Amino acid sequence: MSLYKRLHEMQAAPAETSTRAVDERIVELRQEIHEELIDEIGHVILNKELSPEDVRRRVIDQLNTSISRRQVPLSVKDRNTLISEIADDILGYGPIDSLLKDDEVSDILVNGPYSIYTEYMGKLSKSDVKFVDETHLRRVIDKIVSQVGRRIDESTPLCDARLPDGSRVNAVIHPLAVNGPFLTVRKFARERITVDDLIRFETLSAQTARFLQAGIVGRLNVVVSGGSGTGKTTTLNVLSSFIPSDERIITVEDAKELNLAQEHVLSMESRPPNVDGKGEITIRDLVKNTLRMRPDRIVVGECRGGESLDMLQAMNTGHDGSMTTVHSNGPRDTLARLETLVLMAGFDLPVRAIRDQLSSALDLIVHMQRLRDGTRRITQITEVAGMEGDVISLQDIFAFDYAMGYDDNGHHRGRLKATGVRPKFCEKLTDFGIRLPPNTFDPEEFADTVSLPSATGTAEGPAPAPSPPPSAPHPPPADDNAERAAREALAKILAANEPTGTSS
Ligand SMILES: Nc1ncnc2c1ncn2[C@@H]1O[C@H](COP(=O)(O)OP(=O)(O)OP(=O)(O)O)[C@@H](O)[C@H]1O
Ligand SMILES: [Mg+2]
Repeated sequence: MSLYKRLHEMQAAPAETSTRAVDERIVELRQEIHEELIDEIGHVILNKELSPEDVRRRVIDQLNTSISRRQVPLSVKDRNTLISEIADDILGYGPIDSLLKDDEVSDILVNGPYSIYTEYMGKLSKSDVKFVDETHLRRVIDKIVSQVGRRIDESTPLCDARLPDGSRVNAVIHPLAVNGPFLTVRKFARERITVDDLIRFETLSAQTARFLQAGIVGRLNVVVSGGSGTGKTTTLNVLSSFIPSDERIITVEDAKELNLAQEHVLSMESRPPNVDGKGEITIRDLVKNTLRMRPDRIVVGECRGGESLDMLQAMNTGHDGSMTTVHSNGPRDTLARLETLVLMAGFDLPVRAIRDQLSSALDLIVHMQRLRDGTRRITQITEVAGMEGDVISLQDIFAFDYAMGYDDNGHHRGRLKATGVRPKFCEKLTDFGIRLPPNTFDPEEFADTVSLPSATGTAEGPAPAPSPPPSAPHPPPADDNAERAAREALAKILAANEPTGTSS
């Protein structure tokens, strides 16, 4: 029976015709028109000389013609929806196309064809959009991975890829993905997030930004740590932006996410094995190679394996001022994790030797957390202060005051506060002519009561306690003027693009 006839019958069908039957017919119609369009104007879609707007216009004209030809009984709304859905399928990524174009959406999580979540302004919620069925979702996944020359099938059911706009994609299909396929998209921020943005988002204060800038200019080795999606790469990018522009920077990543403004930047990406299991170039291979490329700074997007050992060695052998990120639950855990990762390099190193390497290589751990109110904050800035016996000693220089609690809108009032510890590396900074304002490390008072969140249910979970403030007498907390002065000083420094620290 022809589609037209069935649609016609649908119109004449008794009122109890289920919505499902109607949906199924629209799905069939959609499939048929889609195929017809590819047959008739496939060459237009592939024509690289036409602008995307011209191609879209031709596709929409053709869709209108195909639908009119069938004299299908569709409302204007259904017709327009059908046209834009097919156009999105053909020219973009189907139902997630509109989410990809929405700059406010940062993550798109496809948990099978009918369940799509998005992260919007730091909060996760279920979206209304759906794929038609599993085949539809598979087609979009195939399109994404084939664009970067990869393949996904039963023999290689996992794949990392990148969209042309830089967004990072991971796909998992049958048989690994139960009720899948699964697709995870981390959108690439079109606008580079700057230190001013981070201050505005309350990820850090102007005072701590200034301190970190001094640390980067003063070539401290820094690890940004935190859980998944806490903003590590973004913070690494911002910290890297403090590297003076006369230095040669080499970045190493799995998929390029770092986006530095300096001119002298060399970016390298690892490569997975091909379908025959050959040709893999790991992050570790690249980190080793950077040492032959005369880097002033090495920035590794994330340490996830044996490259941690090479990174530490680079930091210990004259490539001061290098940076990376590590997945962890706190500064102490960052060290434990790095210890494990170093062992993945395959050498049978005694733990003590690894700890010695770690303690002499690392200067600073910048730890991040995503709070229940959706904000991403730096919660600890911790100095790696050397060894005490067999244990690496850590001391928080700034710690987030969780006890400040939430305001009535469920927004966390807490902020990073100086603990009163003056880091040992201040001497190293002095060698670079960097002198931080004398009050930078003056201890601030930490709140000692937790105000309960409002009824919006945005309670923080059991918050990691900040390091206890030192027992030295507490001066009054930094006032607004001091914060404003620090912010203005930072703006001036950034505008002049010159090292901090000559201020005192
Ligand atoms: N400080 C911030 N405030 C608000 N949003 C942020 C902040 N930092 C990052 N984001 C947004 O959060 C998302 C995750 O950021 P990012 O990729 O930097 O996290 P990550 O910790 O490196 O994640 P992963 O664990 O997947 O590597 C991005 O969409 C980014 O734009
Ligand atoms: Mg990251």
